[in-house]
Amino acid sequence: MNFRGAHILSVAQFARQDVDKIFRVADRMEPFAHRRQVSKALDGAILGNMFFEPSTRTRVSFGCAFNLLGGHVRETADVDSSSIAKGESLFDTARVISGYSDVIVMRHPRVGSVAEFAEASRVPVINGGDGSNEHPSQALLDLYTIKKELQSQGGTIDGMSIAMVGDLKHGRTVHSLSQLLLLYKDIRFTLISPRELSMPADIVDRLRQEGHEVAETDDMESGLQDNDTVYLTRIQEERFTTKLEADIYRGRFRLNQAIYTRHCQPNTVIMHPLPRDSRAEANELDADLNQHPNLAIFRQTDNGVLVRMALFALILDVEDKIADTAADVGWYTERRF
Ligand code: CP
Repeated sequence: MNFRGAHILSVAQFARQDVDKIFRVADRMEPFAHRRQVSKALDGAILGNMFFEPSTRTRVSFGCAFNLLGGHVRETADVDSSSIAKGESLFDTARVISGYSDVIVMRHPRVGSVAEFAEASRVPVINGGDGSNEHPSQALLDLYTIKKELQSQGGTIDGMSIAMVGDLKHGRTVHSLSQLLLLYKDIRFTLISPRELSMPADIVDRLRQEGHEVAETDDMESGLQDNDTVYLTRIQEERFTTKLEADIYRGRFRLNQAIYTRHCQPNTVIMHPLPRDSRAEANELDADLNQHPNLAIFRQTDNGVLVRMALFALILDVEDKIADTAADVGWYTERRF
């Protein structure tokens, strides 16, 4: 695909070579994300970071990624602080914000809303999550993380096995990641969820049509066996009609040290898009795994900055200018661990 000026709305836009390109550029962002160098490639550019649904990682890491390339960020962090609360349409909001920005990241609770916004926008728009539909930048950072984790064990994405666990019906991260994995070969998927929260049938059908092996189960312990990666998800309470309805499923599937030791392979990579629900009644990924070397959740969040920097560099066409504007940082940059 031609990244220059493109909207990023769905993983369906990508061919495998596009993903390879994003990952190559992401690799080159390490000196900046790891605070060894600064870049001025986007000096003067403005990101409109429009979040109409709660977010920590996506909003802040897109903002940091833009700052690390030398750009400025203007943001809306919820509906109540924007004129959408006064009845303004997405069309009008898109027209206005795209007059103030060079690129926009947008999150909204309604499926299809970001595509609608992008149609009215005069600048490129990146989907930061549209309801239960898609979260393409999360899928890219997840896949980038999987690639690195498997590479460190001598493995590859082609031929890998992955268990996806939890609310697969509403989880936009698993929808996007599954569809991105369509670009690879011979993947074994184990989809572990309550029957009522299973992966949408159209996604399962496409995985099978492309030759991947897909097993669906509501038995977590058997489903965890023999996987390179286990990808846990939260019950997406905000997609249920009532909290009581979400409570039916909360806490049904949990991974902790004892279950991991009993049912996973010693090298199984543990992933979660976060936020994990750490309340006692949920706790789908226990803190007793926090020091486990295979816990990749914070490597995922760190990788999110690299991948999002790569998207900005490609969309705004500064990929070749980053090294030219690079300089060593002049402040204390050591990290404790
Ligand atoms: N993974 C993710 O989308 O996290 P946030 O909701 O905090 O952005």
